[in-house]
Formats: sequence, C-alpha cells, structure tokens
Amino acid sequence: MVSATLLFAAAVAPLASAHFGLEYPAWRADTLQSDTNYSQWQYPCAGVPAATSTSGNRTDWPLKGGSIKLDLHHPWEYVFVNLGLGGNVTNFNYTLTGPTFWNVTGAGTLCVDLPLPEGLNPSDGQEGSIQVVTVGESGSALYNCADITFRANATALSKDECKTDEKVSFAQIKEQSGNSTDDGASADDAKSGASIVGLNNVALTAVVGMALSFVTGMVL
Ligand SMILES: *[C@@H]1O[C@H](CO)[C@@H](O)[C@H](O)[C@H]1NC(C)=O
Ligand SMILES: *[C@@H]1O[C@H](CO)[C@@H](O)[C@H](O)[C@H]1NC(C)=O
Ligand SMILES: *[C@@H]1O[C@H](CO)[C@@H](O)[C@H](O)[C@H]1NC(C)=O
Ligand SMILES: *[C@@H]1O[C@H](CO)[C@@H](O)[C@H](O)[C@H]1NC(C)=O
Ligand SMILES: *[C@@H]1O[C@H](CO)[C@@H](O)[C@H](O)[C@H]1NC(C)=O
Ligand SMILES: *[C@@H]1O[C@H](CO)[C@@H](O)[C@H](O)[C@H]1NC(C)=O
Ligand SMILES: *[C@@H]1O[C@H](CO)[C@@H](O)[C@H](O)[C@H]1NC(C)=O
Repeated sequence: MVSATLLFAAAVAPLASAHFGLEYPAWRADTLQSDTNYSQWQYPCAGVPAATSTSGNRTDWPLKGGSIKLDLHHPWEYVFVNLGLGGNVTNFNYTLTGPTFWNVTGAGTLCVDLPLPEGLNPSDGQEGSIQVVTVGESGSALYNCADITFRANATALSKDECKTDEKVSFAQIKEQSGNSTDDGASADDAKSGASIVGLNNVALTAVVGMALSFVTGMVL
C-alpha cells in the first residue's frame, strides 16, 4: 500500500520543485514552508514584509557588493537580482545581474559575488533590500527578498561557503546594442566576470527581443 506521505510528496513535488531558496543573504522568511501565507508568485517579495528594528533578518553586506547564494530547483531558469535602497523598499531599481539577467542551467546551488552597479556607493549603515526573481519557461515569475545593511566591515562569503555546484552554470543574456563591438558593455562584462564564478560569457542575441521585453515588463 502506498503511504499517505508518499502520495502527499508526489502531489506537492511539481509545485515545490518550481520554487527556489535564497540562502544568502538570509531571506525575509522561508517561503518554501507550506504553513505560511507567503507565496513566491507574489510580487515583489512573496508577501513577506521587510525587516524592522525589532523583527526579521537583516544581513550586513559589503559596501561594494557581496555574495548571493541561491538553491535552484529547475533544469534552467532566468534569474534577475535587483537592489533597492531604504529600510522598506518598494522600488528595486538597480540590477546586479546587469546589464540584463542570466540564464541559469542546472538545479542546485549557485553562489556568486555581485559587484554593485557603477556609480552606486552606499554609505556605511545604509539599508537596502535584494530581490531575486526567477522566470521559468512559462514566463511566470517567482520572488524572494533579503534585507541588508551596507557595512564597511562586512565581507563576502568565503570560498568554502560560496560554492556553485558543478552542474550549475549561467550565461548573461545580452542587451542588443545593434552594434556588436560595443566596448562599454564588454569592458563591464570583463570586469564583473573577474569576480563571478562560472560566468559563461555567451552572447544570446537571438533572444534579445524577448529578453528585453522581460526586463521592461518585470522591473517595474
Ligand atoms: C531568517 O532567516 C532564516 C535563515 O535563512 C530563515 O530560516 C527565517 O525564516 C528567516 N526569517 C525570520 C523572520 O527569521
Ligand atoms: C494566513 O491567513 C489567514 C487568513 O487571513 C489567517 O487566519 C492565518 O492565521 C494566516 N496564517 C499564518 C501562518 O499566518
Ligand atoms: C512598508 O511598506 C509597505 C508598502 O508600502 C507598507 O504596507 C508597510 O506598512 C511599510 N512598513 C513599515 C514598517 O513602514
Ligand atoms: C532608485 O530609486 C531611489 C528611490 O526609490 C532613487 O533615490 C534613486 O535615484 C533611483 N535610482 C535609479 C538609478 O533609478
Ligand atoms: C536557457 O538555457 C536553457 C537550458 O540550457 C535552454 O534550453 C534555453 O533555450 C536557454 N534560453 C535562452 C533564452 O537562451
Ligand atoms: C560591523 O560594524 C557594525 C556597526 O558598527 C557592528 O554592529 C558589527 O558588529 C560589526 N561587525 C563585525 C563583523 O565586526
Ligand atoms: C558601432 O560603433 C562604432 C563606434 O561607436 C561605430 O563607428 C560603428 O559605425 C557602429 N557600427 C554599427 C553597425 O552601428
């Protein structure tokens, strides 16, 4: 006889496997747990309120950018990492996966050090929130957020703590400039590539029309 637990597991598996975990910085709440009212389908942060001085997680993060660690459950998905400044962010108007976003292949842990966009220089103690968005084949998006405080004394995760599974890799989806020798973009890519583990610097120009409509549609 098949146990009820097994049946239950089979029933929820397709749903659970489509969601993702935000392991670092500490997420606002464990949105994979079933006994909450949170939903990763809900924009902008799965329905989880921002941390306050008395509740929730707020992680110290380096002034020039830090580590992001995700637990991905899909064979592949698009990943956006966005940042908003303030204690109770509603506008996630900086992208850390710039200039566009990534196509991540493979389920498992993805851990990368993300530099802040050029010209963004938060001060020690400045609060912000990181929003991670994943988009699957169907085009629908999943959200998780983590609240941070920029700190001069904060460091990125160590190499031991920040390991990307061998079967997981990502490609930057390229913005189409109409000019394949756009030096600005490639210089930026090379610079961030130095600090990004496993960057597979492939131009995916064929999908750019679709890619850009994702960006404009989603980073509202
Ligand atoms: C804080 O982070 C921990 C560890 O990631 C997580 O289990 C928890 O749900 C988060 N939220 C709160 C409110 O503690
Ligand atoms: C979820 O929402 C319902 C209806 O608002 C409420 O009764 C319930 O206590 C909430 N559950 C949790 C875990 O917050
Ligand atoms: C944060 O902003 C949300 C949405 O604007 C609002 O509902 C909530 O009350 C705010 N929280 C705090 C602690 O100010
Ligand atoms: C992002 O939004 C904040 C306020 O929400 C604003 O101060 C800042 O100038 C914006 N930055 C960009 C690059 O749009
Ligand atoms: C993203 O990667 C998956 C698997 O590697 C592939 O099937 C898909 O076509 C890619 N999407 C784009 C837009 O390149
Ligand atoms: C970093 O500085 C903040 C504020 O001064 C302090 O609360 C925190 O404990 C310090 N962290 C470390 C790792 O020294
Ligand atoms: C690409 O950019 C270069 C330098 O800005 C310019 O000289 C060239 O004409 C451009 N090519 C196209 C196809 O737009």
